[in-house]
Amino acid sequence: MTTNVNKALLLAALASVAAGAMAQDGDVARRVEDLMRRMTLEEKVGQLHQLSGRQMTGPGSEKFADKLADIRAGRVGSMLNVKGVAETREIQALALQSRLKIPLLFSLDVIHGYRTVFPVPLGEAASWDLDAIRESARVAAREAAASGIHWTFAPMVDIGRDPRWGRVMEGAGEDTYLGSQIAVARVQGFQGPKLGALDRVMATAKHFAGYGAAIAGRDYNAVDMSEQQLHEVYLPPFKAAADAGVATFMNAFNTLNGVPATASAVLQRDILKGQWGYRGFVVSDWASIKELVEHGHAADLSEAARQAIEAGSDMDMEGYAYSRHLAALVAGGKVKQSVLDDAVRRVLTKKFEMGLFDDPYRFSDAARERAVLADPSHARIARDVARKSLVLLKNEGQALPFAKDVGSLAVIGPLADARRDLEGGWIVQSDPQRVVSILDGIRGQVAPGMRLVVAKGCDVACTDTSGFAEAVAAAGRADAVLLVVGESWDMSGEAKSRADLGLPGRQAALFDALAATGKPVVVVILAGRPLVFNGVADRAAAILYAWFPGAQGGNAVADVLFGDYNPSGKLPMTFPRSVGQVPISYQQYRTGRPVVNAANVVYRSAYIDSPNTPRYAFGHGLSYTTFAYSDLVLSEPVMGQGDKVEVSFTLANTGRRAGEEVAQLYIRDRVSSIVRPLMELKGFRKLKLEPGERRTVRFVIDRDTLAFTDGKLRRVAEPGEFDLMIGSASDAIRLRGTLTLRD
Ligand code: GLC
Repeated sequence: MTTNVNKALLLAALASVAAGAMAQDGDVARRVEDLMRRMTLEEKVGQLHQLSGRQMTGPGSEKFADKLADIRAGRVGSMLNVKGVAETREIQALALQSRLKIPLLFSLDVIHGYRTVFPVPLGEAASWDLDAIRESARVAAREAAASGIHWTFAPMVDIGRDPRWGRVMEGAGEDTYLGSQIAVARVQGFQGPKLGALDRVMATAKHFAGYGAAIAGRDYNAVDMSEQQLHEVYLPPFKAAADAGVATFMNAFNTLNGVPATASAVLQRDILKGQWGYRGFVVSDWASIKELVEHGHAADLSEAARQAIEAGSDMDMEGYAYSRHLAALVAGGKVKQSVLDDAVRRVLTKKFEMGLFDDPYRFSDAARERAVLADPSHARIARDVARKSLVLLKNEGQALPFAKDVGSLAVIGPLADARRDLEGGWIVQSDPQRVVSILDGIRGQVAPGMRLVVAKGCDVACTDTSGFAEAVAAAGRADAVLLVVGESWDMSGEAKSRADLGLPGRQAALFDALAATGKPVVVVILAGRPLVFNGVADRAAAILYAWFPGAQGGNAVADVLFGDYNPSGKLPMTFPRSVGQVPISYQQYRTGRPVVNAANVVYRSAYIDSPNTPRYAFGHGLSYTTFAYSDLVLSEPVMGQGDKVEVSFTLANTGRRAGEEVAQLYIRDRVSSIVRPLMELKGFRKLKLEPGERRTVRFVIDRDTLAFTDGKLRRVAEPGEFDLMIGSASDAIRLRGTLTLRD
């Protein structure tokens, strides 16, 4: 490990010096070195100590009064969960009483909005609209920065292929290419072109790495995978974020192949700071350094501190490992001074880049806070993003959109008038008064004469079915029936793993009771993850998946239900038929015994009790119009390693109303040294077409498009034939071609 550390440190230092001479502002580097020379050992350690504010203390947290004393003494480098101009000013003033007056970094989980709550990240990912996703992050950053926040712990870029894991809600789904594109958009939205602007914040790529592959989908559980899979599937979104200039990384709670990520020099030194030349800093997850003892990887907190700092964990979030042991470890020669200095240098560099030494209060301006948080444009942007996040899974007989003058509409279900649930998890401050419920949204849409009949049926847990009769009666009295079901906001997110992915309680039975009336039932489902709802999928007239659509969710859902917005969302995660299929993704392998037709599944890679196919495929999403794909053209059928080939086709809106389509490009490498999945997403275009409009869509394929991580962890594109597939979903390929890569 020591050799690795020294080598990696040398690499990092070289990379830092080399890159620093160009990229880093020379003035910042000089000012950092000048300050470092004046700092004591204790003051240096203090910069690596992050504490939580008053409203959040975990097990083992110090009392808040003790924390304030540490801040005053210069023993704290950053605070999380302190927000608002007033409180950040108050706490920053304490830090400026310390000997060297080093300002604090204020950080917060601004995951999908600060004051204006946007759809949960998985919902935003379903928009496949990078501009919308970037705009959402920009608004969140603008509101947070106006409220004294310097740094958000987002985007979460963990690939998730297991909906049992509740944190899929916070990510961008199952696909590496889509996840990488979204990671970049979110970093750009949060940070803007250069750190230090007063309407932007530092971002964090988290959780490094492999967190989404927890065994059994159980949060915090061990992760075990080949290095090839790690490099092929899970690392690229982090690399994309690093290349986009993300200011910080956060490590992960899980072990990866037996080593806690927090103590993994392979991840944090060799890959991140070595091979990738990353010059930001790594913050631990909450007490993940202290948890090295719980993992059984460190005998005590002092050993945990040594392991973590040497592995490249620069800042200790609420772990008290560095504050209690790092100075002694350095003084005793167990941790090299250069290891400590590298971490401190990284943290101080960000504080200089954020302009905090020039003006520690520059982000804490009360007038700007009031003005920005009252900006009415943010709600309009949130409504637009929410509309784009909604996925129309089914729409039989044009059940949707509802006519606005339909005589009467029954609005039924535990989430029909919900507000808190629409916000989802990981919000800064719930404000139900600012949330538009689905019922509110409908009321704002319908013609004056239309009668709404409302019946809850049951609560979200839906163990008490005594309300079913009233709901059935309401359906019986109405011309159209809408049911709103799904998860409550706190059924997804951190520490919310589920072994059963069904609709909670007896919600499916409520649907059955309504369907038994014989009337078409339109269903809206709220959730932070893919759920299993086969009965609804079989018998509903239409299904709109709304995730947790944020404060404007009610308006967005109503816009789609009544046709003011033509749904354009596509699934960023595969929806299984049963929990027995997970982990599941569209990236299936042919195997040596592929199922080639349903008639012959004996001695094939198949279940005896279920099809292999999912309920709804990655990339699936319907529209109120139709699109046709035609005229696939390759500029060349054969390409060399250094060539580029243009793939073009015609997309036409063949329906009667405008709509947006997400055209997806997949490839398959037919023969390769590491067997490739049957499909790999390598491009997509979301474009709006008017009725009858035809557009030529182009993709460029180069060597990198065709490359994969081989058995020696090299990115290679091996000669041979590749299938090209273009379509509106991973299970709706409309055009096929073949491209040959020669030596
Ligand atoms: C949590 C999460 C992490 C979050 C951090 C601070 O446990 O794992 O994503 O940023 O602690 O709240």
